[in-house]
Amino acid sequence: MRIVKTRASLAEEQARLGRRSVGLVPTMGNLHEGHLSLMRAARERAAQVWVSLFVNPLQFAEGEDFDAYPRTFESDLAKLGSLGVDLLFAPDVAEMYPAGVAEPTQLALPSLAGELCGAHRPGHFEGACTAVLKLLNLVQPQCVCFGEKDYQQLTLVRRMVRDLNVPVEIVPVPTARESDGLAMSSRNGYLNAEERAVAPELYRALRQIVLEVEAGNRDFATLEAGALARLAKGRWDPDYVQVRDAELRSPAGSKELRVLGAARLGRTRLIDNLRAEAPR
Ligand code: PAF
Repeated sequence: MRIVKTRASLAEEQARLGRRSVGLVPTMGNLHEGHLSLMRAARERAAQVWVSLFVNPLQFAEGEDFDAYPRTFESDLAKLGSLGVDLLFAPDVAEMYPAGVAEPTQLALPSLAGELCGAHRPGHFEGACTAVLKLLNLVQPQCVCFGEKDYQQLTLVRRMVRDLNVPVEIVPVPTARESDGLAMSSRNGYLNAEERAVAPELYRALRQIVLEVEAGNRDFATLEAGALARLAKGRWDPDYVQVRDAELRSPAGSKELRVLGAARLGRTRLIDNLRAEAPR
């Protein structure tokens, strides 16, 4: 696997590669099975799999875990090597943001960026989509893979790519889960043993809503309030539980739905979402 850290060496690699297609997997490192499933999806679609590893300061608000975010470069390298990834692009902050991060050029996103997680993490999606667009411009992949775990990010990236005519195919990949249902996430590593034991409750709360919706219950407000109350009665401090349509608009009248939730367990903020299909 080739490891490149600068835009200049990335451009050299592209020149060397010629016209072979690239599938890009953007990551912030601390790789787990969820990331590896993205790489396998890229492998099925493109001649080369390129992974980026960049902990993007722009998507962390003041007081969030940018400094504490797990940086596990050596073990990440071993995982990438075992999967046969062709190239790792691992720039530092100065390489990604040569003019600094104090006043960067950033995207203005649709109002969805200020809802759900965006209401609790101001600027997060603007920062994440700015980094994604920069990576797409630098790498110019044929396809780019994103996990459905970050469904709001996936939805906003889709919208950005469509609105800005970015020539790339977006490949959504289902959420990888632990055997007890907990969605895999780099932030799961923050959980202590007791928190880890109750962490699947978020998944179960969303799953309960899916079962109700699929049985014909469309009283979404009551279902959401019930899940929030159950979580809050336990050890959780929930940010939101919401039912939306597949593009994260109002669910009214839609058959294909997404049930989304975010909640804090101690100092760890977890998110999850599930698809639900309402009966006709
Ligand atoms: O999902 C992530 O890991 C990040 O938001 C991404 C897409 C790599 C952008 O920094």
